[in-house]
Amino acid sequence: MQLQLSTWQEVERYLETSTGIVIPIGSTEQHGPNGLIGTDALCPEVIARSLGEAVPAMIGPTISVGIAQHHLGFAGSMCLRPSTLIALIRDCVVSLSRHGFDRFFFLNGHGGNIATVGAAFAEIHSEISMLTRQTPRPLRCKLANWWDGQGVRKLQSELYGEDEGQHATCSEVSVTQYAFTEAIKRVNFDGRAPAYSGIHDADDYRRRYPDGRIGSLPSLSSPEHGKRFHDAAVADLGQIYRDFLSAA
Ligand code: NI
Repeated sequence: MQLQLSTWQEVERYLETSTGIVIPIGSTEQHGPNGLIGTDALCPEVIARSLGEAVPAMIGPTISVGIAQHHLGFAGSMCLRPSTLIALIRDCVVSLSRHGFDRFFFLNGHGGNIATVGAAFAEIHSEISMLTRQTPRPLRCKLANWWDGQGVRKLQSELYGEDEGQHATCSEVSVTQYAFTEAIKRVNFDGRAPAYSGIHDADDYRRRYPDGRIGSLPSLSSPEHGKRFHDAAVADLGQIYRDFLSAA
């Protein structure tokens, strides 16, 4: 069930059966020569929709711009400051909690968001602990990366080994190729991208990783692989989400 395709009456009825919501969160940033700029937002969005049908669960709107200052050396990349993303997440949670949602499952598509999402949760918990905000039931937030489950990890190493890489990875390019076949790019690569050697600012990133990839060889990606990753992620995350809902 998607929040944005529901009426307010449908949301009220959903809340009588569950107070959980899945919020995809990603980034809008370069993903190398054959990776879509929306990759990190599109992957969790597509996976969340299927997860929502499988569980079932309410799926909120995607937060599609994230922490990506280091990608600004490449055209089309966008970023939020950490303080902006913290405020955005806080306001999304607080507005939905007014209606009775109290289990917030952020389905993440971008490693660069992890620290800041954790800081946003700390901000929300601080308001509750310092009694500047009251909630009728304990409010819980969780972050899960779509690629972190056992099924996805196993598939990554089986299909790509070291060529999976750290940015513009083979698996995430495959997921977007599966979901958006009309946007597949045919590109020849000379080989695996430079290995991870640290990141500072946007100019530093572009010097170290000239075509935007880190350690990956996404010419190995395919829509068929993407379907397998999609299905594995939905299976992994279904269990993680159910455990989250039933935890104290
Ligand atoms: Ni990515």
